[in-house]
Amino acid sequence: MTRRAVRGRLVWFRDDPALAGEAALVDIPDGMVVIEGERIEAAGPAADLLEPGLEVTDYPNALILPGLIDAHIHYPQTRVIGSYGAQLLDWLQNYTFPAERRFADPDHCAAAARFFLDELLRHGTTTALAYASVHPGSVDALCTEAMGRNMRLITGKVMMDEGPEGLRDTAQSGYDDSKALIARWHGQGRIGYAITPRFAVTSSAAQLEAAGALLREHPDCWLQTHLAENHAEIAEVGRRFPESSSYTDVYDRFGLLGPRSIFGHCIHLAEAEVARLAATGSIACFCPTSNLFIGSGLFDLARLADRPDPVRIALATDVGGGTSYSMLQTAAEAYKVLQLQHRNWPALDAFHAMTRGNALALGLDHEIGTLEPGSVADLAVLDLAPTPAVAHRLEAIDRRDLPALLFALMIMGDDRAVRATWVAGQPLHERAGAA
Ligand code: GUN
Ligand code: ZN
Repeated sequence: MTRRAVRGRLVWFRDDPALAGEAALVDIPDGMVVIEGERIEAAGPAADLLEPGLEVTDYPNALILPGLIDAHIHYPQTRVIGSYGAQLLDWLQNYTFPAERRFADPDHCAAAARFFLDELLRHGTTTALAYASVHPGSVDALCTEAMGRNMRLITGKVMMDEGPEGLRDTAQSGYDDSKALIARWHGQGRIGYAITPRFAVTSSAAQLEAAGALLREHPDCWLQTHLAENHAEIAEVGRRFPESSSYTDVYDRFGLLGPRSIFGHCIHLAEAEVARLAATGSIACFCPTSNLFIGSGLFDLARLADRPDPVRIALATDVGGGTSYSMLQTAAEAYKVLQLQHRNWPALDAFHAMTRGNALALGLDHEIGTLEPGSVADLAVLDLAPTPAVAHRLEAIDRRDLPALLFALMIMGDDRAVRATWVAGQPLHERAGAA
């Protein structure tokens, strides 16, 4: 097996800095990651790991982190980002559903999948939990592309039997197609399958029942859906499921809550709903650029996290409701959402969220989100001089003050701050023109 190494300042987390403070952080100023095949064999001071004949890629003036993880993104929505003037339900009707109809065409799926994964890598994102479209072929295209890159990707066919004309499956076909896709893709290489009922506005009770059956039959698959994003959406769910006490209760009754279930948004929840998410180990996914752009509301981190039984939290772009593929920009907007609620968000918490935190949310912390030996060598290399403005700002910070460096980088950084992205031991993106 090939052995090679990358050298630079290594940064990763062994624990949650919100609980353990700076002790959670590993910061090795002149460090080296030794890679054997796909995996990290060792990570530590370069002086301890240098050996004659080892091929070393140097990244001076950069931080080498675990690859970033995006816990909620829609790959059919790359041409929808930045669509003007609508809140959720109109935004879906006017922009998103027309874009998703085009995924009936396998060639369109293949081109979109290539663009999407290239964009993730340009932004330092090595793993995503991604929605496909209602068409099974959209999953095939994305999984084929991800397999070709050896990326850790989780996706699923959207189930929406009460969606708009031209984008509907049925409770039965949604079940059958999902089942076939699970058999074809789940556990192939680094691909995982997420059972994906879009939301309770576009699925019948029979379809949510089928989604629950799939989750029971495939407990190692994930489940992803949307929850409590927008007031009109919540009112519509109330009309459609009058027997349920809340939006969360709709999913709960069909057995969709649990430790592998990721709920996008979770903005407008009653106390009993928060308690159920917490009790079931479900994950609430914070998508700040989307929540601001679609005008959905402010994610209430304090309410979900500051309780004896905290709700598990993930962080995500939600492209194309979200406006950037960059997890740095996503963290910057998260910071601002929390500022509006008179709460701060330390940079260590933010970088933990993008790496180990999202890995924990997906139950993949043994494999990704870390530079520990034995994990897969998925790396994001962040440039400390990506633009004149960032370089100028960072020059004013003592290099030993990593939280300050990280904070400025997350507030000002974007894809230009990603010098390189490695996937399973291979450099798949190197920024053109980077020093
Ligand atoms: N709710 C149901 N579908 C979607 C979607 O595609 N994007 C967002 N932001 N919310 C949704
Ligand atoms: Zn979404």
